[in-house]
Amino acid sequence: MTDLSSKTFPAGFLWGTAIGAHQSEGNNLASDWWYRENQPDSPVAERSGDAVDSYHRWQEDLDLAAKAGFTDYRFGIEWARIEPADGHVSRAAIDHYVRIVEGAIAQGLRPMVTLYHFTLPLWFSAGGSWGRPDAIERFLKYLDAVAPILDAGVERVMTINEPNIVAVFPILQSGAAELADGIPVPDPGLTKVMIGAHRAAVARLRETHPELKVGWGVSVQDYQPAAGAEAQADSYAEPRDQVFLHAAAGDDFVGVQTYTGARIGADGVATAFDTSSPRTLTGWEFTPAALGGAVVRVARVVPGVPIIVTENGVATSDDAQRIEYTTGALQSLRTAMDAGADVRGYFHWSLLDNWEWGHWGPTFGLVAVDRDTFERKPKPSLAWLGGLAPKAAH
Ligand code: BGC
Repeated sequence: MTDLSSKTFPAGFLWGTAIGAHQSEGNNLASDWWYRENQPDSPVAERSGDAVDSYHRWQEDLDLAAKAGFTDYRFGIEWARIEPADGHVSRAAIDHYVRIVEGAIAQGLRPMVTLYHFTLPLWFSAGGSWGRPDAIERFLKYLDAVAPILDAGVERVMTINEPNIVAVFPILQSGAAELADGIPVPDPGLTKVMIGAHRAAVARLRETHPELKVGWGVSVQDYQPAAGAEAQADSYAEPRDQVFLHAAAGDDFVGVQTYTGARIGADGVATAFDTSSPRTLTGWEFTPAALGGAVVRVARVVPGVPIIVTENGVATSDDAQRIEYTTGALQSLRTAMDAGADVRGYFHWSLLDNWEWGHWGPTFGLVAVDRDTFERKPKPSLAWLGGLAPKAAH
């Protein structure tokens, strides 16, 4: 087992934390999730509200990450703020994100931005969402609008966060399935649109910003075949994540977002690796080494595309368990790299305890946040993980 130190990963390795816009900013009034959360009979258990007020406290968040030793910072641009009404582009919102990019660079953090992380402007959603005939065209217009933010010094762009989860939302929201021990099969129509939107966005950014590194982040869990069930595991993974991974061919990186895994039996059904394993606060099996397993599969499915772990973490109220989980995950990542996977970086989800899509209970953060005062309270895991950042060779 590798003992972890700042030398475990190579100099130049991206060492980051990740947050998402809607989950941390607060009062994302023009978005479809905000609308849904605030309906009288909302199926969303707890609303995002002020979230953790990162819209105003972003500087504090950057400071925490930079002082802990991180070198990279992934955050979201919120389309519903950039274009809160159909056709109205908010100059003030653009300036806001320009300031964050400049602030990150001033702190020595390389910015990676996510363009679409589950939330959409309400006008886009209400007008048919990704089923609109002009959906991709409107996404590209949004991309054009955020050019000043990208020009401020963004290094990497994630076009879409977890397109495969976007494509299971209709099934999850109907209550027909949960995200534990495997995911439901993504909607084939949405799968096609997500891939189309990504390819179109990459092409547009190659034209307008050839210097940017562009990719997307796929939810990839560690699907391990039971003895003799290799073909079944492959068929299980194909529509759930591999079709999205194939679509990353030619990109500058593929983002891998791993939390857990499952065993795929000869019957093609996903079950827990070990029914006696603890469950995390999201109900997922506690499987730190899932990260290495997922990365090995990604390297096989999209050879030649550099991998960045754009999310990995654990929902727990016990910070010692977070350190235990992350230690196991990083050791498995190092092993995957030793076996040949071309991994360029690791972003921990999340910098902050934030709104977990309808729930405040599952805490993923390296930093706790007092929800009345918004005071940030670093947990021991922040300094521990930041301390593992590879240092430049002297
Ligand atoms: C998402 C995050 C989420 C995390 C933990 C990913 O699916 O990108 O928004 O908070 O996993 O559930």
